[in-house]
Amino acid sequence: MSEVKNITIFDTTLRDGEQSPGASMNIEEKLRIAHHLEKLNVDVIEAGFPIASDGDFEAVKRVAQAIKGPQIAGLSRANNMDIDRAWEALKYAGERGRIHTFIATSDIHMKYKLKMSEEQVIETAVKAVKRAAGYTPNVEFSAEDAVRTRLPFLAKVVEAVIDAGAKTVNIPDTVGYTIPSEYFNIIRYLKENVANVDKAVLSVHCHNDLGLAVANSLAAVQAGAQQVECTINGIGERAGNCSLEEIVMALRTRQDIMPFSTNVVTEHIYAASKLLSTITGLVVQPNKAIVGANAFAHEAGIHQHGVLMEKSTYEIMTPESIGLNQNKLVLGKHSGRHAFIKRLEELGYELSKEDTEKAFVRFKTLADQKKEIFDEDLDAIVADEIIRVPEVFKLLQMSVSSGSFTAPTATVEMEIKGEVKKDAEMGDGPVDATFKAIKKLTGTTARLLHFSVGAITGGTDAQGECTVRLELEGREVLGQGAHPDIIVASARAYINALNKIETTPLRTSVHL
Ligand code: KIV
Ligand code: ZN
Repeated sequence: MSEVKNITIFDTTLRDGEQSPGASMNIEEKLRIAHHLEKLNVDVIEAGFPIASDGDFEAVKRVAQAIKGPQIAGLSRANNMDIDRAWEALKYAGERGRIHTFIATSDIHMKYKLKMSEEQVIETAVKAVKRAAGYTPNVEFSAEDAVRTRLPFLAKVVEAVIDAGAKTVNIPDTVGYTIPSEYFNIIRYLKENVANVDKAVLSVHCHNDLGLAVANSLAAVQAGAQQVECTINGIGERAGNCSLEEIVMALRTRQDIMPFSTNVVTEHIYAASKLLSTITGLVVQPNKAIVGANAFAHEAGIHQHGVLMEKSTYEIMTPESIGLNQNKLVLGKHSGRHAFIKRLEELGYELSKEDTEKAFVRFKTLADQKKEIFDEDLDAIVADEIIRVPEVFKLLQMSVSSGSFTAPTATVEMEIKGEVKKDAEMGDGPVDATFKAIKKLTGTTARLLHFSVGAITGGTDAQGECTVRLELEGREVLGQGAHPDIIVASARAYINALNKIETTPLRTSVHL
């Protein structure tokens, strides 16, 4: 049996993941995710890009102050200003602070974006690593677009930055272009052709444009990469990044042919996935590997029969191994505070006393309207009642009349910056009338990009769950709302998105 090697898991949900359209998070939301990543026991949390905005800076600083186990990384371009700003935020993590600096190395990026020669790129990379190493020995360098970089030049860059003090060197597939055999060969080539390669950890960072991010990362690990960069639910720019749950569970499940381990406590995976979806509104598709609603559902009779006789017939990993307890405790109107709190804890929520009380009151109200309360209902209650941005705009009351005989009309009463206001509007349908009334009351100029409505569980008494995507001045936000009345849920989602626009810091555009 060969020796089992430990792979460092570098989570970039809060940095590259946040670059997903609509996934921007405020500081409190980032802290919630960071605490969950700490529970998951990832090795490194990339908390943001401090120079990008004051909000990003503050988020990295707060995560560096609050999180005790994992290392905390902050991204910087290869220049003094970025690096100094990154360390200003990261210094609160002390020895666990990691400066992650990068510059592109492919011909296409050097020619069109950087307008720099090979020599200039190497010089800039080396200078940046030395500057960062003046603050901390924990320096990571990324050769952006490494996969489209000529290999001899890539090897030269890797050798130079290791000599300059980089302890981790990342070989990103920035545009999600490679395939497993090619990526395997790139990592092998570097292992064999960079003289000082053993002085640093080789890292991989894959985007999912061809749906190969996890497969490519696995191939790289097999070729000798020691760190994988990934995100919860695979969120990230364009088609996303390598998904944390998929790479970790693949390594755990196929130890028979891949002698690698990670430090991730996989039993917290499901709750991490749920929390991220709740916060960002980016819900995973039902057939998503590991965390999708159908991932452990054995619908077909023949499969159900097999699983009942012997689980391993159709189950390659257990739901419990990702923290999915399939014996969902169903709560109802007679369930007490104790059962409610216990279930919230099992679902991975750590709420303050005050928030627990708020959620419990909402639960009791819902239980009066709905016979059985499922885990999904509890997720929706927490999302709707607790994980909400500060409310500049608050829905107080509303009523809607609609049907085939009347013109749909909505009357909405809101508290806006402390003042109570009421107005009514007509629309093409009840949601349209409601949104028009809210628009009039708030004076918003945000553009509605997307509206969707679904039922959280089955049955006509199910809660409606709405998602609204708004755009204002090039910035997209997602709002969510849940309520047994879908028109109220829609209004809550719209108002939630408006509150996000008000409270999520605007990023200055920083070009990678
Ligand atoms: O995809 C990429 O190249 C990146 C780097 C900044 C690491 O995200
Ligand atoms: Zn990336």
